[in-house]
Amino acid sequence: MIAETNVSVNQLIYPLFIVDGFNVKISIESMPNCYRWSLDLLLIEIESCIKIGINSFVIFPAVEDHLKDKVATYSYSENNFYLKAIREIKSKFPEITLMSDVAMDPYSSDGHDGLVRNGEIINDETLPILAKMAVAQADAGIDIIGPSDMMDGRIGFIRNSLDNNGFIDTSLMSYTAKYASAFYGPFRDALDSAPKSGDKKTYQMDPRNSKEALREAELDVIEGADILMVKPAMCYLDVINQLNQSFDLPISAYNVSGEYAMIHAASQKGWLDYEKSMVETLTSIKRAGASIILTYFAKDFASLNN
Ligand code: PBG
Repeated sequence: MIAETNVSVNQLIYPLFIVDGFNVKISIESMPNCYRWSLDLLLIEIESCIKIGINSFVIFPAVEDHLKDKVATYSYSENNFYLKAIREIKSKFPEITLMSDVAMDPYSSDGHDGLVRNGEIINDETLPILAKMAVAQADAGIDIIGPSDMMDGRIGFIRNSLDNNGFIDTSLMSYTAKYASAFYGPFRDALDSAPKSGDKKTYQMDPRNSKEALREAELDVIEGADILMVKPAMCYLDVINQLNQSFDLPISAYNVSGEYAMIHAASQKGWLDYEKSMVETLTSIKRAGASIILTYFAKDFASLNN
């Protein structure tokens, strides 16, 4: 009765990985119970998640190397299997909330979220590419666009392009304060999307800063974001709290791959209790002020209550 914080499955978004092909289910060593699914099996997986109460999903594509280039052309190509999958998922399950990933890295031969020239990330020339990607996803029926690239000005640029193309109802969840974190390692294994050279520190945030997160949030609000995200979650609970205190938009947090992997690894060794650690993790992220949590724990958490 007096508990201040309760985690509900309704507020969880379950990240899923998709690959092209048929009858494919590839495990990801550093992310137990997560797979790269082909669409046919992904549809079955989504259906089983819906049965236990999960109604929001974010999908990430693992793209074959030969389809990658410097300008991420495949990201908005008509033949893109990710766009086809969005269409099919939404037509089969219109009631779910489906969120996308907008960033160049799954499609970039450089493995960066922005355009690379002479070893540098070119912010402004990246924006039209991101906007084309977002419009293609909106056209495929996505509910929430999730720009995860951290280029400056992309929220406003994408919002304008969506509106100009008639997608006035498509929402934007901005990766507002996305830190240059070591905790993305397993995700990059999952997608084969690690940078080919350098790191992401010129566009992702410095873990030493929190005021900078407030500046980023202010810009995103002005540019038209609908939801503000902090990522990762566990090492950044203070940032989640500050954004929640300072802004009246919904705050989300991404409980990332490395946070999932370390709890799994420790519990496999018998050093942590898996279920208790999972519930405590999700509860603390909510207590900090995130009303929405993107988490690989979604399915296990939902199963607890079923
Ligand atoms: C890249 C992207 C990353 C994640 C989501 N989108 C990794 C990165 O920035 O290198 C990480 C998610 C996770 O670790 O669970 N656009």
